[in-house]
Amino acid sequence: MSFDLILFGGTGDLTWRKLMPALFQAFRHGKLPPGGRILAVARDERSDDEYRAFIKERFTEVEESKRPSDEAFADFARMLSYRRMDLSMPEHYAGLKRWIDERGADKVVSFLATGPHLFPVICEQLGAAGLNGPNMRLVLEKPLGHDLASAQRINRVVASAFSEEQALRIDHYLGKPAVQNLMALRFGNALFEPLWRRECIANIQVTLAESIGVGSRGDFYDQTGALRDMIQNHALQLLTMIAMEPPSSNDADAIRDEKLKVLKSLRPFTPEMVARDVVRGQYRAGSFDGKAVKGYLDEVRVPPGSHCETFVALRTEVQNWRWAGVPFYLRTGKRLAARDAQIVVNFRPVPHPIFPGSEGAARANKLVIKLQPEDGLELHLLAAKGGGGNELLSPVSLDLDFDKAFASERVGGYEKLLLDAIAGRLSLFVRSDEQEQAWRWVEPVLHAWTQDPTGPRPYAPGSWGPAAASALVARDGCAWAEEQ
Ligand code: BG6
Repeated sequence: MSFDLILFGGTGDLTWRKLMPALFQAFRHGKLPPGGRILAVARDERSDDEYRAFIKERFTEVEESKRPSDEAFADFARMLSYRRMDLSMPEHYAGLKRWIDERGADKVVSFLATGPHLFPVICEQLGAAGLNGPNMRLVLEKPLGHDLASAQRINRVVASAFSEEQALRIDHYLGKPAVQNLMALRFGNALFEPLWRRECIANIQVTLAESIGVGSRGDFYDQTGALRDMIQNHALQLLTMIAMEPPSSNDADAIRDEKLKVLKSLRPFTPEMVARDVVRGQYRAGSFDGKAVKGYLDEVRVPPGSHCETFVALRTEVQNWRWAGVPFYLRTGKRLAARDAQIVVNFRPVPHPIFPGSEGAARANKLVIKLQPEDGLELHLLAAKGGGGNELLSPVSLDLDFDKAFASERVGGYEKLLLDAIAGRLSLFVRSDEQEQAWRWVEPVLHAWTQDPTGPRPYAPGSWGPAAASALVARDGCAWAEEQ
C-alpha cells in the first residue's frame, strides 16, 4: 500500500519533537508501509536536503533511545521531502495536488500539526483543490478549540470539506499501549466484567501526573490550563474507556457510540459542585530533585498574577445503573512528585472479614493500569504467608509488564496513531460528537472559575498538589494511590 503523508506545520515543534521520532520508530520497526512519502510543508524556502538536515539536527533533542544512527537516518530520510507553501494561496494547493496526482498513492493523509487558527483555511483550501477525495484523510491535533463554540466552529469547517470518517481527531493517550490493553482487558477476557460495576468497585482514580513545568510554552499554556490541556481530552477519554458498556463489535463507531454515552452520563457541574468537587492549583517556586525551580508565575511568557491552573483534581460520577454512586476522581498536574500516569480501580473490601487485620478499604483489592513511565497491570491481593495459625494477611501483587510479556519494543502513542491514520483504522480517534460533549461537560467549570476571584491554590513543586486534593477524596473515605 503506497501512501503520502503531508505534514502541515512541517518545521514546528510537534513535527520534530513527536511526529518525526514516531515515524522513524515506525520505519525502524518495519511497520511503515514501503513506498511511502512524507512531505513536510511550511512557510520558508528550503531544499529537501536542507529540511532533512534540519530534522537530523533536531533528533539530538529527542530521547536518546529514539535517536537514529547516521546510517539509519539516511535510510529514513529518503522518504522525506519538503515543500514551501503559503497556506492561503490556492495555486500552492494546486501544486500540491499535482505532486500527489503524479504518483497516485493509495492513501493520502494530511496531518495538521499547525496552530488551530490555521485549520479553517487549510481545510477550505484542501477541499477547494479537490484534496479531499475518498482515499484522503485529515488528521487534526489538539487543541481543537478552547470551548464548545470554538470546537463547533472548527468541526463545521472540517465537515464542509471532509466526512466524519475522513477527519481523525488525535488524542495521543489513546495510542498508548496500556490504553489499548484496557480494551483487551475488559472485552477480551470474561474475568473482570462481572466485577466491573458499582456492587464491587468502590472508586476509580485517573492520575496523569507530570514532573516537568510548563517550560517555554508559557504563552500557550496560560491560554489553556490543565483542565483544557489534559482533563477535557486525555483524562476524559480514559474515563470513557473504563466506564463504557461492552460495544457490539470492534468497529470504530460501535466503540465511539459507547464512549459518547458515558460522556453524556457524566454528572453535570453546578457552580456549587465546582466549589465542592473541583480543586485547582498552581505550582509555586521551590526545589525539585535538589534543584531550585521557578514557580508558574515566574515562567517565561506567563502574565503576572495569572490564575491559570497547572493542577486539577475533581470528583465526578457516571449516572447510570452500572456506576451510580461510584466516585470517579480525575487528577492531573505539572511539577508533581513524579511522571506517573495510571488508572486505579479500587474494589470494595470483603463484606465480612474473617482474617485479623484485613478489615477496611485500605486492605481491599485494586487493579492498577499503568500507562507511564512503564506500561503494565498490577493486581493487588491479600495473601497468607503460610505457616499456619492466625497470622495477618500480607499485600501482594500480580505484576504484568507488557514489554516483557511480549518481548517487544514499546510502540509509542504517536507511532500507533500515525500508522492507524495511514491504514484508515478509526477506532482510536475521537469523533466530533465525543469531543463536543467533553467540552459541554467542562464548560461549567471554566465558567465558575471566571466568577471566582480566589484563583488556584498554590502547591509546592515535587508534591502531589494542594492538600485540598487529598481532602476531596478523604471526604468519601478514600485516598489517592500514593497515600494508601
Ligand atoms: C499534551 C499536553 O497533550 O500531553 C502537554 O498538551 C503534556 O501539556 C502532554 O505535557 C503529556 O503527554 P505524555 O504523553 O508525555 O504524558
